[in-house]
Amino acid sequence: MRYVITTLCTALLALHALGQTLYSISYDSSYDSASTSVDSVTCSSQLISEGYATYGSIPTFPSLGGSTNITGSNTSSCGQCVVFEFAGNFAGVKLINSAEGWDFVISEEAMDALTNNITIYPHVNARIIEGPYNC
Ligand SMILES: *[C@@H]1O[C@H](CO)[C@@H](O)[C@H](O)[C@H]1NC(C)=O
Ligand SMILES: *[C@@H]1O[C@H](CO)[C@@H](O)[C@H](O)[C@H]1NC(C)=O
Ligand SMILES: *[C@@H]1O[C@H](CO)[C@@H](O)[C@H](O)[C@H]1NC(C)=O
Repeated sequence: MRYVITTLCTALLALHALGQTLYSISYDSSYDSASTSVDSVTCSSQLISEGYATYGSIPTFPSLGGSTNITGSNTSSCGQCVVFEFAGNFAGVKLINSAEGWDFVISEEAMDALTNNITIYPHVNARIIEGPYNC
């Protein structure tokens, strides 16, 4: 038993070292709506100060999403970008909001890119291959 546990821990550490941490990702089509005001998202004050009033005015639109780690307007990852990988597909999103229930909630279009349109998945567990970085 001890051997099994040690082996499991070693395997988990090895995965972590390779950046294989998996994050649960779901989608919300509200991020695909260009006319939505940024007023109600957690990072709204930063977005407004950068001159963005609606989702559609943000240059990365509709590559937008939220993270559970964004808990207030001063969270450092507010406005930063991450790139996810799932089964050889990629999606980059700008984080503008908090998220509930999943590590990240992203736009439907970003989810389509990440899953290659296999919409039978209500959510996926994906790796972060880049970020969060300033964008
Ligand atoms: C956010 O940061 C600014 C500048 O550091 C500070 O003035 C403000 O009180 C902070 N707001 C919150 C909610 O912590
Ligand atoms: C949240 O932040 C913690 C601590 O920095 C980090 O380990 C974790 O991977 C982050 N989670 C997400 C969903 O970004
Ligand atoms: C996914 O679906 C969208 C909308 O139907 C379409 O525009 C896009 O080309 C599809 N992407 C792939 C990889 O099939």
